[in-house]
Amino acid sequence: MRSGAPGVHVQLGEISDERFDRLADTFNQMLAQLEHDSQEMQQLSRLILQAQEDERYRLARELHDEAAQALTSLLVHLRLLERARDPESAQQQVKELRVLTASALENVRRVALDLRPTILDDLGLASALEWRVDEFNKMEGMNAKISITGLDHRLPRDLELVLYRIGQEALSNVGRHAHATHVELRLDRIPGQVMLEVRDDGAGFDPMTIGGSDRGLGLLGMRERIGMVDGELLVESQVGKGTRIIVTAPAP
Ligand SMILES: Nc1ncnc2c1ncn2[C@@H]1O[C@H](COP(=O)(O)OP(=O)(O)OP(=O)(O)O)[C@@H](O)[C@H]1O
Ligand SMILES: [Mg+2]
Repeated sequence: MRSGAPGVHVQLGEISDERFDRLADTFNQMLAQLEHDSQEMQQLSRLILQAQEDERYRLARELHDEAAQALTSLLVHLRLLERARDPESAQQQVKELRVLTASALENVRRVALDLRPTILDDLGLASALEWRVDEFNKMEGMNAKISITGLDHRLPRDLELVLYRIGQEALSNVGRHAHATHVELRLDRIPGQVMLEVRDDGAGFDPMTIGGSDRGLGLLGMRERIGMVDGELLVESQVGKGTRIIVTAPAP
């Protein structure tokens, strides 16, 4: 066991002693638990690596489809500009170049914002979440609302980032899985504590299945993140009855 060999356990011999057997039994249970945990860890590392690859793929595609396409059309228009014979057609090309450049810029900004919204650093959690909800509504054609109380001052940077990412993932889950008609977010700061709730009236699911091997990483990531700031995650959901995600964390 000390050398890390897998599948080792205590074998009971011919001579039996009640106390020794109990000890051996406990020991074997601990070994089984250890093996189970290490398998789970391995499975999780695989999932994390896979998620990282998926994210890279998504970014590469976004860069290729949006930014590279836009730059290609810029090149084409520049060539046309080079060949322009009269000032009018040159001016027309310049105009088109300006429109194309503006839209390329907008796309690059969007990708960058998606990765790490500057609004979070500049204006704080409340504004960043409001912005995220607006984006969600635009993307999903929904009318999600967010109510914020007690957040007149900024929270510590780590805590803001954790809560923002949790809100982002919860909203993304609503968009992908819930098929909800109503979505509500609440961000409350009471003395010593901050609370974020994301609630929908959609499809719901069985929270006991979180962490199963065919499940995603979103909810596990939420739990991991909130743990980093000594907070807690509560998932209330039932098939057909919507979902409530509540996180609370100590806030000085
Ligand atoms: N708001 C929700 N409404 C309905 N089902 C949900 C909701 N949130 C989560 N689920 C269910 O819980 C599962 C696990 O969610 P989780 O965020 O961990 O993974 P995922 O969204 O499937 O994948 P990932 O987040 O890793 O891209 C989802 O696949 C979905 O079945
Ligand atoms: Mg998810």
